[in-house]
Amino acid sequence: MEPQDLYFKDALDFFDEFQWIFKYPVTQILIKKSLDSIPNDWLKALRKLNYNELNNFVLGKFTKPEWPPSLLSFIRQCKKLNTLSQAPKISNLKPSSLPSNLRHGLTSKKQHEVSHLVNFIHEKCKAEKIHTIVDFGSGLGYICQALNHLFGYRVVGLESNREIYNNACTRQLELFPDSSNDVTYLHCQVNFENFEENIQLLKHHISNPDEKICMIGLHSCGDLAVASAFAFRSIQQSKLLIMMSCCYHKLEMFENKMKYFGISSSFRHAMKNHNCKINLNSTTDERHEIMDIFNRPFMRLACQESARRWEEMSDHDHQQHAFCVLSRAVLELFVHENDITLKKTVKKATRKSQCVNFDTYLTDTLQRYIFNDENASKNEELIDKLRKKWDENKDKLDDIEIFTALQVLLQAPAESLVLEDRHDKTKKKINAVIVPIFDPTISPRCQAIVARVED
Ligand SMILES: C[S@@+](CC[C@H](N)C(=O)[O-])C[C@H]1O[C@@H](n2cnc3c(N)ncnc32)[C@H](O)[C@@H]1O
Repeated sequence: MEPQDLYFKDALDFFDEFQWIFKYPVTQILIKKSLDSIPNDWLKALRKLNYNELNNFVLGKFTKPEWPPSLLSFIRQCKKLNTLSQAPKISNLKPSSLPSNLRHGLTSKKQHEVSHLVNFIHEKCKAEKIHTIVDFGSGLGYICQALNHLFGYRVVGLESNREIYNNACTRQLELFPDSSNDVTYLHCQVNFENFEENIQLLKHHISNPDEKICMIGLHSCGDLAVASAFAFRSIQQSKLLIMMSCCYHKLEMFENKMKYFGISSSFRHAMKNHNCKINLNSTTDERHEIMDIFNRPFMRLACQESARRWEEMSDHDHQQHAFCVLSRAVLELFVHENDITLKKTVKKATRKSQCVNFDTYLTDTLQRYIFNDENASKNEELIDKLRKKWDENKDKLDDIEIFTALQVLLQAPAESLVLEDRHDKTKKKINAVIVPIFDPTISPRCQAIVARVED
């Protein structure tokens, strides 16, 4: 079996076995009784850890030989399936220093990304003698303008959001008025439905039909990264692809499955041969289709912050986190059991300052949500019932952090699977690698798929 086929087979077996860790949204942790799925012997071992030890457990630095073999094996498999940690070390190219007009309006995180990425793109394009770059999902044009301003590239930026596109044009006029001949923004939606149209539009804006082009994307969300990879394979002039994806959970769904996940032939092959196991946690004892588990919660997990965030988590951070997760889950359980629907009235998430105790949380919640029956939120009897629900569940705070730790351990294997699928799809007949470009503590979605068509 080819190494890539073996990787997908192992990954499918692993995620199938441990689907109880990620299959349901965190808000439904009590409704779905997710904590009950943690094996008793795992709980017994992990409940003994203080938060510092739990942090090190998640970071892969702390285990005990006497722990249950199944837990030790889970940890070993997480490490093995984290292919991103086996990728080459972060690109050691020096970032370009950005002049003040290029830094205008950029957070320090964005400055880090732009300065590292443009330099990386420049090195690759220089080697291939490429002078034209197409940026998929160009946003406000930070990368486009930097590539032109620092290195003189001709750049076409494709952006689907009308307002963002307008702002990119305004920003160009204000800060880079001399770039209008070389940097073009197009308002268009890159997707599979109008794929041919996209290709024609692009060809029209790349003047010389023999010109080699590089396609790039930074934080290409949802289907955009996959559509860009297809465009890369469809346009003959494309020689280089440098694609940094994000927001995997925004992938389009079709019949309850992610439409553009499981796209590579090795993945499909593994799927076809995968032995669907009986879902032991299912009350109906039904067999499940393996693709059902790669749902939005899985994709959310894949694009969560990495385990390294736990390096700095204090006891207080853990207690606050556990409280936020559990109180939200209690609210969800309560409305579920009482057949109430929750409607958010404000966009803001719960502030940490509201997570002092359940009463402050409740006061805040009643300001941010209304129940389907508007009077319900004022109904003292219901509020009392909700308090009781909290009391019944509040001893689960420690187990919430253990469950979260298991989820965080799965983040890197999950992101590896998403990117390996795209990488495997891209690399057929094309040389492709996955390379980290940013410091993951500054920008967690730091991996680029870099593909190059051989001459
Ligand atoms: C997360 S933002 C990143 C913007 C920019 N690349 C950056 O890093 O500053 C993603 C951008 O892609 C745009 N976008 C999303 N899907 C798109 C599509 N199918 N076609 C074109 N643009 C798209 C969004 O409107 C958004 O501006």
